[in-house]
Amino acid sequence: MQIEQVAGALGAEISGIDLGQVLGGNAVSALRSALLDHGVLFFHDQNFDTEAHKRLARQFGDIFVHPFFLEGADPEVVTIYRKPGDTQIVGSDWHQDTAMMPEPPMGAILYAKKVPPFGGDTLFANQHLAYERLSGGMKTMLEGLRAINSDRLVAGPGSTRNAGRTTKSRDDSEWQETISLHPVVRTHPETGRKALFVNHSYTVGLEDMSATESKPLLDFLMDWGHRPEFTCRFRWRNGSVALWDNRCTKHIAVNDAQSGERIMRRIQIAGDKPV
Ligand code: SIN
Repeated sequence: MQIEQVAGALGAEISGIDLGQVLGGNAVSALRSALLDHGVLFFHDQNFDTEAHKRLARQFGDIFVHPFFLEGADPEVVTIYRKPGDTQIVGSDWHQDTAMMPEPPMGAILYAKKVPPFGGDTLFANQHLAYERLSGGMKTMLEGLRAINSDRLVAGPGSTRNAGRTTKSRDDSEWQETISLHPVVRTHPETGRKALFVNHSYTVGLEDMSATESKPLLDFLMDWGHRPEFTCRFRWRNGSVALWDNRCTKHIAVNDAQSGERIMRRIQIAGDKPV
């Protein structure tokens, strides 16, 4: 297995491994360790079906069942379609996945089944670096602060995201908002490094603060978190894979494929309560 760093902030391309095969303990340990070092791992020229995808995900933990992308027959798998003519896509704001859950996923494995001739890249941002580059004064101010995370912006009747996109989140009358308070700065459970944990899709306020007070601070932190020097960009090919650590990275899907079609299969890995 070869590991090649793709940017200064995060991201490494891994070659010399077939993710569709049953991986030995050494390979899984090497991937886990690379994930902690680089935040997101990229692979090309992979070819595996849904069962192999699940087997791969289970090497990293239990499979996380997404609460509001439930259209497919298999609750453990989300297929993300972008069809020609779509004006909206899934994941087009900077986010950590499913951050409104009490225990957000630790990561995800996204497999490219069909990519457009151009566009449709995914960007990732290192939230350890984003935290570490803040001033001492800002770090002190953020200590003990908790963010209110909700899915009301991306699902349910208040979300406008479903108009214009093929893959839709739940917006039926039975849908209920999920809210969780998480620390604005979380500590990675495996490395002990601190990371910013707020994002545009889910973070709607700060605990014990009015919207007038919290909005400017959140706007700053959320935009700061994806300054170019904290990011890397992945150009997909058919058969490419990205495996990311959702505890310390954010990502965004770029909606620029114009008339192109894009089909991705995603499986998420269960995580723990941010502390
Ligand atoms: C996501 O936000 O998980 C989807 C990312 C992508 O489609 O590139």
